[in-house]
Amino acid sequence: MPNAATISKGILKPHFEIKGLSNLSGDVEVSGAKNSALVLMTASLLTEEVISLNNVPELTDIKGMGEILLAMGVELRQSPSSLELCAKNLKNSEPPYELVNGLRASFFCIGPLLGKLGQAKIPLPGGCRIGARPVIEHIKGLKALGAIVTVEHGVVSASVPGTAKKLRGSAIVLDCPSVGATETILMAAVLASGKTTIENAAQEPEVQDLANMLNKMGASISGAGGPTITINGVEKLNGCSYNVIPDRIEAGTFLIAAAITRSTLRIKSVFPDHLSSVLQKLRDCGCAIEIDEDSITIIPGDINGVDITTQPFPGFPTDLQAPFMALLATAKGTSVVTEKIYENRMQHVAELQRMGASIRVQGNSAVIEGIPQLSAAPVTGGDLRSTAAMVLAGLAAKGTSKVEGLNHLDRGYAELEVKLNSVGGQIQRLP
Ligand code: EPZ
Repeated sequence: MPNAATISKGILKPHFEIKGLSNLSGDVEVSGAKNSALVLMTASLLTEEVISLNNVPELTDIKGMGEILLAMGVELRQSPSSLELCAKNLKNSEPPYELVNGLRASFFCIGPLLGKLGQAKIPLPGGCRIGARPVIEHIKGLKALGAIVTVEHGVVSASVPGTAKKLRGSAIVLDCPSVGATETILMAAVLASGKTTIENAAQEPEVQDLANMLNKMGASISGAGGPTITINGVEKLNGCSYNVIPDRIEAGTFLIAAAITRSTLRIKSVFPDHLSSVLQKLRDCGCAIEIDEDSITIIPGDINGVDITTQPFPGFPTDLQAPFMALLATAKGTSVVTEKIYENRMQHVAELQRMGASIRVQGNSAVIEGIPQLSAAPVTGGDLRSTAAMVLAGLAAKGTSKVEGLNHLDRGYAELEVKLNSVGGQIQRLP
């Protein structure tokens, strides 16, 4: 029963209570990648046969995407960490507004619906706290493939003219290496007539994972993972069974959890080459890194400040900027963190300052003067990755911290506290 003091403070929000000065040790298992599983789920719209996805993380975003696909008539069978999807009896190409509005990734449906049915109507994904998140490149790519695309009253309507309802291959050059635009164009082009090339394509592992699954379904894609992707349109795609790649951002979060608590951890079921830039920065700031085929062991030394600039893959990932800043707040010396991907991804600075961090923000850069120890405080994460950053800071701080923002956290981390507690964390999830 909440006490009077808590009630008097207003609505009780679900939060973590984290006992600081944690020493972690042992092995942590990484789940499947959220940012791959979400787009692979929408690729099931491209075939009438069954797609079986394995190593699917159990996250609220995955559940949300499932509800959207169900509402369109996709048959869905869920079991722990796997999903069976079949779009044979697709009812419509307009997912309900109330479901789509809460999940930006639902916009991934537009490419396959257009490629398969020749029409789609998807609400324009709004911006979020980290930035405007436009979909200009996605729409430009679909138009280049011959679609008619209009945006009215917050809804993107796309259709393929002519009786054949078939898109036609095209040479596309992206203004920026957008992950979502690359994936949208890939899924629209696989059933188009003729050849499509995407230049200045996003090179993230999740793009490569999508191309690999589409090829397993019978597509003809080459160059994914590099700056130029070529797609030769095919008549039909078949079902397949596919394993989602490990979540490199979750893996990086655990590596930083080890570094910030000066603990040795082994991160298992991970692809080390998906984290090269992060591993290099961890080495630069004083950690020893041992790599096996699918695991990484981190042994922190004295942590010194380093400079970080977020870049498209293979550069330092923007999704680990906030967690890494929590580490740098406890490093010796000065660090400069520059966010080049999003225009507003520094909200975690104010929360770290509440824990005693010495950080000065100048535009899209933050100058961090490391301090020997953070002090526990009640803090709130404003988005998925800043909440993760606050959890890491809480593990290292002196005292017990209260971290709110679990609604964000649960979108991208499967039972983060359970995994951290299994290696010595002392985190309580309270309603
Ligand atoms: C994906 O978002 C990820 N989400 C994001 O992860 C990740 O931060 C991002 O890629 C970059 O790696 C999913 O895959 C579901 P973008 P996406 O299009 O596709 C600008 C997380 O925490 N841009 O590559 O939306 C855009 O504004 C989330 O897991 C344009 O300017 O990313 C942004 O500044 C957060 N015009 C930058 O590019 C466009 O037309 C990167 O966007 C499209 C994008």
